[in-house]
Amino acid sequence: MIRFDASRSLWILETASAAFVFGLARRGSSVDGFPQSRLSGEGLLLQTWYGPRLSDPSEYPEAVPEPGWASFSTPASLSPEIFPAAGGPRFGEPSLACVFPDGVRDSALRYRDYSIDGEKLSVFLDDSAYGLEVELEFIAHPAWDLFSRRAIVRNRAGGSAASSSGGSVLIESLLSGAVYLNRGGEYRLTHLVGRWAGETRIERCPLGEGRFTIDSSRGFTSHHANPFFALDAGASADEDSGDVRFGCLAWSGNWKISFERDNFGLVKISAGYQDRDFSIPLSSGQEVASPSFIFGFTRGGFGAMSRALHGWQRSALSPSGSELRRVLYNSWEATAFSVDEAGQTALAEKAASLGVELFVMDDGWFGERTNDRAGLGDWTVNRKKFPRGLGPLIARVKELGMEFGLWVEPEMVNPDSDLYRAHPDWIYHYPGRTRTEMRNQFVLNLSIPAVEAYVFDAMHRLLSENDIRFVKWDLNRSISEPGSHAHGHPRDANIRHIEALYRIMTRLRSAHPDVRFQTCSGGGGRIDPGILAYFDQAWPSDNTDASDRLVIQEGFSLIYGAHIMESWVTARKNWLNGRELSLEYRFHAAMAGVLGIGENLSHWNEEEAAAAKGLIALYKDIRPLVQNGNLYRLESAERTSFLYAADDGSRAVLFVFLERNRFGGRMPPVHPRGLDPDARYELVQRSPAAPLFSPPSAEIAGRAGMTLSGAAWTERGVEVPLREDHTSAIFEFKRSPLD
Ligand code: DGJ
Repeated sequence: MIRFDASRSLWILETASAAFVFGLARRGSSVDGFPQSRLSGEGLLLQTWYGPRLSDPSEYPEAVPEPGWASFSTPASLSPEIFPAAGGPRFGEPSLACVFPDGVRDSALRYRDYSIDGEKLSVFLDDSAYGLEVELEFIAHPAWDLFSRRAIVRNRAGGSAASSSGGSVLIESLLSGAVYLNRGGEYRLTHLVGRWAGETRIERCPLGEGRFTIDSSRGFTSHHANPFFALDAGASADEDSGDVRFGCLAWSGNWKISFERDNFGLVKISAGYQDRDFSIPLSSGQEVASPSFIFGFTRGGFGAMSRALHGWQRSALSPSGSELRRVLYNSWEATAFSVDEAGQTALAEKAASLGVELFVMDDGWFGERTNDRAGLGDWTVNRKKFPRGLGPLIARVKELGMEFGLWVEPEMVNPDSDLYRAHPDWIYHYPGRTRTEMRNQFVLNLSIPAVEAYVFDAMHRLLSENDIRFVKWDLNRSISEPGSHAHGHPRDANIRHIEALYRIMTRLRSAHPDVRFQTCSGGGGRIDPGILAYFDQAWPSDNTDASDRLVIQEGFSLIYGAHIMESWVTARKNWLNGRELSLEYRFHAAMAGVLGIGENLSHWNEEEAAAAKGLIALYKDIRPLVQNGNLYRLESAERTSFLYAADDGSRAVLFVFLERNRFGGRMPPVHPRGLDPDARYELVQRSPAAPLFSPPSAEIAGRAGMTLSGAAWTERGVEVPLREDHTSAIFEFKRSPLD
C-alpha cells in the first residue's frame, strides 16, 4: 500500500510488515553563517524510515535535514537523501552524475510532483535550467515485504544547445538511488564472494567507516560477487530471528553496490550501474533507466529474507513461475565435445530408463567444434557428427518420453569460425590493439544492431527448425577491450549489450513460448534478478563435487530459490578435486535443487542404475516441496541440514549431510523449523532405503517412525545417526491425517 501524507509531505510505502518512508524537507536546518537554502537542506527528498511497519502511520517521522557540522559537513551531505545527484555540497556516492552540454557538472534537482497507481509510486524531479527530468519509480510487493525502485532520467531540453557532447547530457553515473540504515548502529554486512568453480560463498564482515564496494567490471554479473547484500545490527540476526535489511540488483552487466558509513555513523547503500568505463550521452527526447534495485526488511532473520526473495521470484520474477522444473540429463561431463548421434542416443536411452524428463546435449554439436578452439558463432549442425542433422536424435528423445534441450553460447565467436572470418569487426576490440582471447574466443559486440539481429536470427532459426524445449545459454569469458564503434560512443556498450540480450530473450520467448532457458556462464557467472526475468533456471557452478556444492548452494540459497538452482549428479571421483563420494550423497546434494544427472550413464552398473532410478522417483515425489516450498537452513559446517516445508504445512522434507565426523561420538539432534506447531507429523526416512535407526535408541530426540507435534519436533529435534564422513539422509515429515 502506498500513500502520500500531504500534511507532512511524506510518501509512505508499506507491505505486510515492512515500511519505507521518505519525505520532502519543508524547512531547512539552521546552519549558522550559511543562509543559502542549498546548504540548509530545504527541499531535499529524505528517507525517514526503512524498517518495520508501524500500526499508526502518523508515527513515521517527517523529513528534517540533519544539522551541519562546522563548515565542512553540510545538511545536504549529512542527510539521508534518497537520490543525491552530484552537485552542490555533496561529497558521497552520487546516484546521478552528469555533464550538461555547456560543461556544467552541477545538478540541482528539485521535487516537482508525484503520481500513485496502485502499488506504484512515481516522484518527479527537475533540473529546470537544463530540462533534465528524473522519475523515481517505486513499486511495493506487499506479500513479500519487498520494494523495488529505479530511476529514469530524461532529457527534455529543447535540443539546440551546442557543446562538446553535441547537445547531449552526458550521464557519467547512474544508480537506482540510495537507502539508509539508522545512524549509529554497528552493522554487519553479509554478501557473496567467489570465483570460477567456487561461486556464491557467504562472507560476513563489519561495516567500518569509509566506503566499501562490491561490483563487477567484467561485462556480466560475475562469479566473483553477486549483486546482493544483507545487513544486520551488531550481528544480532541469525537464521530464525533478528532485523535484516537486504537488497539485490536486477542487472546482468557491470554493476556496483556501495556501502558508505559516514563520520556521523550514517550508513548509505547505493546500487546501480558500475561507472568504471561508463557514460551515456542523452540527447534531447531520450531517456535512460537505472537497473531495478529490490530491497526489503524482515524481523525474521536471514531465513525469512531468503523465503521472501524466493517467493517473489516464483510469483513475480520468473518467466515460468512455480512450474515444476524437469529432471534433466546433461552430456557435458560425460562426453565433453565428443557428441554424435549414436553416442547421444545411447545416453538418452539410458537416461529415459531412469526417469529423466529432459535430455540436454551440451557443447560440441555445431560448426567445426571438436574442441574449444573452433566453431562458436556458426550455429549450424556439424554434419560429421550428425550427418542427418539433429532431427533423428530429437525424434528418438521424444519417443523415449523426454524433451530435448541444447547448449549454445550465442554471444561468443571463435577466431576459427565462418562468422569471425566474415565479420572480424563484430567483436569488442580497439583498433590497433590486441584482441585478447580467453578460452580461444572473443565476445560479440551485441550493441551493434547487426550483431543483435544475427544472434536473434540464429537462435530463432535453431528453435524453429528443431523441436527444442530447453536452451542452455552459456557465456565463457569476461568482456575485455570493450570498444564499440557502432555508434561512436563506446562507453555505453555494456548497457547496450545487456539491453540487446534482454531484447533477444523477450523476442525468443514470445516466438517460442514452450521453450525453457537456463542461464549459465562457465557455471554461475551470470545469475542475478535481471537475467532471471528471462531465464527459468541457472547453473550455479562448474564445480560438481557434492561436498563443495553444498557450500555453493547454501550461498546461492540466500538469494535464489531452489526452483532456479540446477544441480547434477556426476562421477563418483570428481574431476575438479578427485574427491570420491557415494552415489547417494551426490544424489542427495543435487536433489536439493533442480535435479540433473551429468555422469556418463554407461559407467553405472545395474545396482547403481537401480539406486538412481529410485532416487529420481523419490525426487519427483518431493519436488513440489523442494522447488516451491519454504526453505529453512538449519545448520552448516561439519553437518549441513536444511528443510523445505509446504506452504500449507502438510509436508516437509529434511536433508541431512554429515560432512565430517570429528572425534567420533554422537551428533546433537537436528532441530527442524517451518512445521505447524499444532499439527502432528510422522517422521519417515525416505533415503537411504535401509533404516538408519536400530532401536532401542535414546528418546531424547525424535526419530524416524515417531509421530509428534510440530512443536515437539522443533524442540526435541530429530536423531540422525549418521556416523561416517560424507553420509547423508532425507526424511519427510508427514502431517498425520487426523489433523
Ligand atoms: C561451461 C559450462 O558451465 C559447462 O557446463 C559446459 O556447458 C561448458 N561450458 C561447455 O563448453
